[in-house]
Amino acid sequence: MLKTAIINWLLVCTDPELRDIAKIIKETSVHNGQHDPISLECDKVFLERLKVNPRALKMNFWEKHFELDSISCFEEICGKVLDFGCGSGHLDVLLARRGMTVHGLDLSPIGINIANRLRERETQDVKKLVTFSVADVISQTPVGELFDSAWSAHVFEHIADPGPVLTGLQNWVKPGGHLLISVPLGKAYDDPGHVNHFFSAHELYQFLIPHIEVKKIEENHEFHVIRALCIFGKNHEPS
Ligand SMILES: C[S@@+](CC[C@H](N)C(=O)[O-])C[C@H]1O[C@@H](n2cnc3c(N)ncnc32)[C@H](O)[C@@H]1O
Repeated sequence: MLKTAIINWLLVCTDPELRDIAKIIKETSVHNGQHDPISLECDKVFLERLKVNPRALKMNFWEKHFELDSISCFEEICGKVLDFGCGSGHLDVLLARRGMTVHGLDLSPIGINIANRLRERETQDVKKLVTFSVADVISQTPVGELFDSAWSAHVFEHIADPGPVLTGLQNWVKPGGHLLISVPLGKAYDDPGHVNHFFSAHELYQFLIPHIEVKKIEENHEFHVIRALCIFGKNHEPS
């Protein structure tokens, strides 16, 4: 199914940016041959985009994306920022162009290979500010110093149990650091990978509060998202 979708796409695609991404998807899946099931599940996001919404793999789609501005509304998301579940990394490259220091992390090798290709095309100044890696925050710890804050856009609707992820993320961010979570409101942007739907800020609050302190939470009806500003416990000792 994976190969058929890509080959079909390559046959009809005349857009060089998308052809390049389709090639990365094909090469990564051939190279990895023996994907573990988690990576495969994560990789499906990009296949789905290729088939259903290929515009979402193009830089000019992200240049106008509302999440790009949303992060600047939260001054707590600053310093060395971790983007948890960065996907194809388009937003991180654009944030680096604005001067933010950001590291995008994802379980998906396809996502990170696309992100690294985008990074390669940037100037040295931008490259210095943005990096990417494949990692599982649950079982791995960061190489080097902890992040000052973290951001996660459109990820937690894909995660059935946020406990292990939020506990794992504590090991990546400095105690007292903030985490900004953005999820769709209700069934906005729905896709088959969404295992949670949050119909109000209160529902997201109930989902998060057993695992992390929630400082501020708001529904945005213009863009149909809910945003929660959370804070990692000042008393925790990274394990
Ligand atoms: C819908 S995509 C969102 C990507 C990006 N943040 C965006 O806004 O386009 C969700 C991403 O979360 C990643 N993801 C889900 N669970 C994860 C986990 N435990 N660790 C790292 N990444 C994860 C998936 O691989 C996928 O790339």
